[in-house]
Amino acid sequence: MTGDFCAQLILQADSPLPLYYQLQAKIKSLIDAGFLGCGDRLPSEREIAAQTQVNRLTVRQAITALVNEGVLTRKRGLGTFVAPPKLEHGLTKLTSFTEDMHKRGLKPSTRVLSLAVQPVEKKVSLLLGLGAHEDVIVIERLRLADDKPMAFEVAHLPCRRFPGFLALRVDLALASLYDTLRLHYGIEFTRASETLEARAASGREAELLGIPSGAPLLARERTTYGQGDEPIEYVKSLYRADRYRFMYEVIK
Ligand code: GLP
Repeated sequence: MTGDFCAQLILQADSPLPLYYQLQAKIKSLIDAGFLGCGDRLPSEREIAAQTQVNRLTVRQAITALVNEGVLTRKRGLGTFVAPPKLEHGLTKLTSFTEDMHKRGLKPSTRVLSLAVQPVEKKVSLLLGLGAHEDVIVIERLRLADDKPMAFEVAHLPCRRFPGFLALRVDLALASLYDTLRLHYGIEFTRASETLEARAASGREAELLGIPSGAPLLARERTTYGQGDEPIEYVKSLYRADRYRFMYEVIK
């Protein structure tokens, strides 16, 4: 297939589009068409340059753009490979991380980084409908799928709504937070309001998620409501943009 792939790499010298961009689009469309599959090695920069008659810097520029997009992945000393397809997330379904991963046939796991009671920040107090001097339970977790980092989450729960939460000593490395709130406090999640934006990973975030500093992240903020439209949690989740794709339905 690699030979076929190379033979298809034909660019148009008279096109107004820059060569690197043409090459980037061509490689992507050949992967979409199945000329190379997940885990297949891309021909080397040298081979692609020879086939397309463009210089290696241009080839590298196209490949780097595809690596940043999450289409390709570089493995030091081995070459460049087709990345696994991104996971799709149904934004219209109110699911927990655990449910989400199970649906995709992936094994969720969690590392609890910290769990503490803290005075609420102004912004969070407004979202959770709390007074300025109330406390929140703050839970920092690294979420993994098939043992690989997927997201870093910081959840804030109103202390007064969840009395004795710390004393429960629930191991959140093993238990789902949503299951815990359902089981111990009778919460029924009814809806969530979310925002989603792209940003670059800071040093700490990158280290936790196993990506280079500055790599793209999908930053999602969720306020989740229970019975009577009571705000239950405010969560900031940072997903690795190379592993996650959000999907949502649009209706008339
Ligand atoms: C998702 C949501 C979070 C929520 C979490 C609960 O990741 N974005 O807002 O806190 O699920 O997940 P779990 O029940 O698996 O702990």
